[in-house]
Amino acid sequence: MHLTIVTCLPRLLEGPFQDSILKRAQDKGLVTIEITDLRNYATDKRKTVDDYAFGGGAGMVLMIEPIDRCLADLKSKRHYDEVIYLSPDGELFNQGLANELSMKQNLILLCGHYKGVDERVRQHLITREISIGNYVLSGGELAAAVVADAIIRLLPGVLNDETSALTDSFQDGLVAPPVYTRPAEYKGWRVPDVLLSGDHARIELWRQEQALKRTRQRRPDLLKE
Ligand code: ADE
Repeated sequence: MHLTIVTCLPRLLEGPFQDSILKRAQDKGLVTIEITDLRNYATDKRKTVDDYAFGGGAGMVLMIEPIDRCLADLKSKRHYDEVIYLSPDGELFNQGLANELSMKQNLILLCGHYKGVDERVRQHLITREISIGNYVLSGGELAAAVVADAIIRLLPGVLNDETSALTDSFQDGLVAPPVYTRPAEYKGWRVPDVLLSGDHARIELWRQEQALKRTRQRRPDLLKE
């Protein structure tokens, strides 16, 4: 997979891809991540990419011209399956959407900033919009990092144990069961005996029961879905 993130604040995205699973995925050649600075597509000396909103009001708006130039340049180099704009009023991101996007070849994630992008970008230049939750971030960069992480960890070969993404919360519509590690007893708090039994069938049954119980307690909305 090739993931291109378009942003006017590339430094905000320096950290998330340089460690752990996301770094390993790149080192293994399973994903390439390209951070594209929108300012490279500005035409003036000050590299302006935003302007005041027509009609007045607080906040700057990202202009359509640098975005259009940038997207055209990217699309001239490879075919993109989706051009996704991160926005608080987009489609709510969830595991199902992460699964769907993980099957694409090439994706663009376009980050808004300030008051967002000129509406014509949304009307004409993108294929879908995603929100990571019902709250407003300062820009789309952190949302893009969240979406990228959720997608990349699903790519075959990224996780060491191929089954571990399958046992994630939400993959089967349930939250994950509790997990424990050594010591088996700490301050008198014991790990459930079944996990120490070595009986894999019983352990699997216990995990399924716990996942269902937890989902009922914490996320009954998932069972209704
Ligand atoms: N940009 C600002 N807030 C956002 C959100 N909640 N999701 C995605 N992009 C955003």
